[in-house]
Amino acid sequence: MQVELKPLQLSDADTLYEFFQKLPASENGKNNRAHGLSREEFTNWVQKEINYSQGKNLPEGYVPGTTFVMYVDNIPVGVSNLRHYLNEKLEKNGGHIGTHILPEYRGRGFGNIITLETLKKAKEIGIKRVLVFHYDNNVPAWRTSEKMGGKLDSINMVNGIKARKYIIDTSKL
Ligand SMILES: CC(C)(COP(=O)(O)OP(=O)(O)OC[C@H]1O[C@@H](n2cnc3c(N)ncnc32)[C@H](O)[C@@H]1OP(=O)(O)O)[C@@H](O)C(=O)NCCC(=O)NCCS
Repeated sequence: MQVELKPLQLSDADTLYEFFQKLPASENGKNNRAHGLSREEFTNWVQKEINYSQGKNLPEGYVPGTTFVMYVDNIPVGVSNLRHYLNEKLEKNGGHIGTHILPEYRGRGFGNIITLETLKKAKEIGIKRVLVFHYDNNVPAWRTSEKMGGKLDSINMVNGIKARKYIIDTSKL
């Protein structure tokens, strides 16, 4: 099995349009803002994500972040987002990493793999202490963080829902 985590790029927009339409719009606080877009709007969204990755045209309160697509044997199966650093708000809710696997590929270890591959990217850009938040009832999500050596820091209310905050030390990967 060949796994590749690739930053979103315009040249892949054609092949990724259907994938982003299949990925649910919103689950457990993870949003897919490309869901429901027309093909043309999708290209604009991809360009916007590339800009954010380069720190360009960031809306107020946003930090630079990269959207990655995970390919397994050249088939897109999941998406992750990596924020390059956090502001005060994201330290309390949001964190560095979000992951999203196509429903038909869940429960086969891909959540663990995309988390590990995204943590490696975090390490590459110098992030030593990665913060991740998961709703307490989202067991598969917080298990991926525990699997990567994440330590439970605290349990807080986020958007009125009980959420776990994990800290993952990338030097131990
Ligand atoms: C969270 C998500 C990325 C996990 O992906 P996945 O491919 O199903 O995860 P894996 O198959 O790698 O499983 C991860 C862990 O959860 C466990 N798990 C998987 N499905 C489970 C379930 N239904 N109930 C309990 N545990 C489960 C696995 O056993 C594994 O733990 P282990 O390695 O200790 O055995 C995926 O469910 C998803 O995309 N959910 C919607 C979006 C989301 O919630 N994102 C996270 C936001 S913080």
